[in-house]
Amino acid sequence: MTGAIFYATKSGATEGVAKYIARNIGAETINLDKDPNADLSKYDRVILGSGVYLHKVPKTVSDFATKYADLMPKVSLYLVCAFKDEEGDEQLQRISSELGVGYGVYFNNPRRMMGMEGSKLELFIEHLNNGK
Ligand SMILES: Cc1cc2nc3c(=O)[nH]c(=O)nc-3n(C[C@H](O)[C@H](O)[C@H](O)COP(=O)(O)O)c2cc1C
Repeated sequence: MTGAIFYATKSGATEGVAKYIARNIGAETINLDKDPNADLSKYDRVILGSGVYLHKVPKTVSDFATKYADLMPKVSLYLVCAFKDEEGDEQLQRISSELGVGYGVYFNNPRRMMGMEGSKLELFIEHLNNGK
């Protein structure tokens, strides 16, 4: 199975998570700002990662989701963001539905979750490794 994590980052947090997940599931990482024409369709398993700015994902991410709208239901999204609790849940729901992804999660402080059993990040990796 060939997997890829497509991501956009401004200050690096989303990239750090992309590399961490890639190491744990065996996938390529593709920075959408450097490679906006990357081809999603050649991968069996696709993850999309993004930071959130002023309630939105960067245009590279929304353009990518529009271009591959048909395939988005199979994509797992992670957001790296400042919002949490109810505000974080609402933001995730809205962005997931705008992008059309089949599954979504957000990480408020991903560095702290790395290697921490039962953390949202480790559960997300488990979810991906289970092939869901
Ligand atoms: C100008 C600015 C606006 C932001 N707006 C939001 C927001 O609307 N919602 C949110 O949850 N986080 C917001 N954040 C926090 C970022 O999503 C967070 O720092 C994230 O780690 C950025 O990802 P990146 O480091 O991959 O670029 C904002 C940060 C900045 C600097």
